[in-house]
Amino acid sequence: MKKNSLLKKILKTPLPKNNMRNKIVAGNWKMNLGIQQGADLIKNIIEAKPQLNPHQKVIFCTPFTHLNSSSEVLKSAPSGYLLGAQNCHDQPSGAYTGEISVDMLTELQVSAVIIGHSERRQYFGESNEFLKNKVDSLVSKGKMILFCCGEPLSIRESDKQNEYVARQLQESLFHLSAEAMMNHIVIAYEPIWAIGTGVTASTQQAQDMHAFIRSLLKETYHEDVSKEISILYGGSCNATNAAELFACPDVDGGLIGGAALKAESFLPIISAMP
Ligand code: 13P
Repeated sequence: MKKNSLLKKILKTPLPKNNMRNKIVAGNWKMNLGIQQGADLIKNIIEAKPQLNPHQKVIFCTPFTHLNSSSEVLKSAPSGYLLGAQNCHDQPSGAYTGEISVDMLTELQVSAVIIGHSERRQYFGESNEFLKNKVDSLVSKGKMILFCCGEPLSIRESDKQNEYVARQLQESLFHLSAEAMMNHIVIAYEPIWAIGTGVTASTQQAQDMHAFIRSLLKETYHEDVSKEISILYGGSCNATNAAELFACPDVDGGLIGGAALKAESFLPIISAMP
């Protein structure tokens, strides 16, 4: 982006009201749980943790088939509990067999959508360019985007993870204005080698990458943008390691897979949220 147009965008951007970033724990159920099991899980969690601090959010990213029943349960939930989807299409409607539009998600009170999960990149061929269109569609409809980035093992082993993640962010997100970034984007760093493997990134590895992402945000936009955007860690985060990971200064919570499928394992993670 040209320096002048970037400067204009920044100058037009209202300063954030405060620098207290949202702390977020999001459960990505992936393709798991029956509809009733999912509804019961949400109920049990809300009953056990009926109050969140004003800056805390818990997001249930359910399969599409669970959104209706989950949104019914969440209607009576205390503030801070939100419904999320795991994907969407970038077009508003049309001949896209098997796809779901952002407007359809809005009808089911979906607030947030996961975009760019490594499983979608890997199994469904979603490129940075393709994801950019989804990002634009979601921003135009006022959604929160849980944007996933993260490197495969081979890239980590050759110590090229910073370049790899920078490219994912640059090609799918950094065309947005500073205002859109602050209002809509949550970044989830999920190293692929840590997803579903039981191998968690060390606190040092997580903190280093999160700090790097924040430095990129500062360099590309402004310090206010880098301070305002929540950056979550994902990849074998569980009840045992969550508190330590969340204590890192640049880690604002987690995107949780396997451990989000049971109240016993998800609740301690919610409680570990700073
Ligand atoms: P696991 O927590 O099962 O490793 O999955 C992480 C993830 O992919 C969340 O999106």
